[in-house]
Amino acid sequence: MARDNMIVSLDIGSTKVTVIVGDVEQDRQLQVVGFGSVESSGIRKGNVIDIENTVRAIESAIEKAEQMSGRDIDGGYVGITGHSVSSINNRGVVAVSGFDEEITPEDVERVLQAARVIALPHDRKIIHVIPRQFLVDGNENILDPVGMIGSRLEVETHIVTIVNASLQNIVKCCQRAGFQPQELVLNSYASGEAVLYPAEKELGVVVVDIGGGTTDIAIFDQGALWYTAVLPIGGDYITSDLAVGLRTPLTQAEVIKKEHGGTLPALTSDSEFVDVPSVGGRDTFRVSKKMIAAIIEPRVQEIIGLVKNKLDSSGYPGLLPGGIVLTGGTALTQGIAELAVELLQKPVRVGYPEEIGGLADVVHAPECATGVGLLLYAAKSRRLQEENEDSLSMKVMFSRVKQWFQDFF
Ligand SMILES: Nc1ncnc2c1ncn2[C@@H]1O[C@H](COP(=O)(O)OP(=O)(O)OP(=O)(O)O)[C@@H](O)[C@H]1O
Ligand SMILES: [Mg+2]
Repeated sequence: MARDNMIVSLDIGSTKVTVIVGDVEQDRQLQVVGFGSVESSGIRKGNVIDIENTVRAIESAIEKAEQMSGRDIDGGYVGITGHSVSSINNRGVVAVSGFDEEITPEDVERVLQAARVIALPHDRKIIHVIPRQFLVDGNENILDPVGMIGSRLEVETHIVTIVNASLQNIVKCCQRAGFQPQELVLNSYASGEAVLYPAEKELGVVVVDIGGGTTDIAIFDQGALWYTAVLPIGGDYITSDLAVGLRTPLTQAEVIKKEHGGTLPALTSDSEFVDVPSVGGRDTFRVSKKMIAAIIEPRVQEIIGLVKNKLDSSGYPGLLPGGIVLTGGTALTQGIAELAVELLQKPVRVGYPEEIGGLADVVHAPECATGVGLLLYAAKSRRLQEENEDSLSMKVMFSRVKQWFQDFF
């Protein structure tokens, strides 16, 4: 197979670093051909806190993925998250240039450039300028205005920015591990690509990727990204609550959480018990599953409550009929969907990566949503560039980002 078909994603998470290798086949379905995931502690809440540790984790994840796929990996798509990421919606307006008032790709490019002009603190960089919709002479909901007649072209965009130093630290870790970032993509955008159905994205839906150190939120509407936010909280808080509450080491708390954790004490048995090793490992004591659930529940409530606050303040005007899709490792917490239904008063499901072939079962887990989504994003970007040479407005959101991305180096 030609090397050109290969795409690679790198998700540098707070708990693990994952590399996934994909092939875009002739029929365009994405095939997963390699996977490597290793635990890491070099990232906290999405930011690099230990370069050496992060570089080593990236190197070993690459090595595993190379072994499984039989390919050499030297770069690919990298996920970005953390409190240094922020986003705003902005509008650009231009007059259509041609005397016949037919909108050209150049008009689209100009209006996107106009939308990019925002008062940006000098320490921030733009990573995405995503068109939500175009307007021609005030007519809304236009996806591709090229070829249409009009005198005034507007675009509504979602702009994602990141603190330059955080971005440079991520890029530095990648490069030191021999991995050249081709493009940086917001984690929640990627996770949405992996776990949302196109119909949900059309209707209005929220993806909430609850990882170890961060909770990444994205609202999709009419097929496009409408709003994004990152909360510096995740499943690691639940683990430390359990460690403190049960007086057990963090490693044991993590095992107990994954094997016996539930969020709904009311539905959890108080006649089932779990052996919990004490700090220092000398004694073991018995704790009911109900008590474990009683420790987990308030923290999950807090996370979902913070998600609700973000959604309430997002300014999104719709009702989100597509509901909420929870993903990321913490979405595996038993009872979390039920609790979220109660708190958010919306349909909730747990999202697993879909629309992939090959070794799909290896990555069929909520914690792989970002990694798989990055691959799907890369495949889509490639497809749009190959197929839609005329449809600049569709492909521009991918290709322009690439061009702007060159500025980072
Ligand atoms: N079965 C499970 N039940 C409860 N929690 C789980 C389960 N499996 C994994 N987790 C939790 O999911 C979290 C890791 O999720 P994930 O791999 O998505 O995070 P990450 O991508 O490394 O971090 P982040 O996205 O925050 O940077 C950990 O807190 C882990 O304890
Ligand atoms: Mg993650």
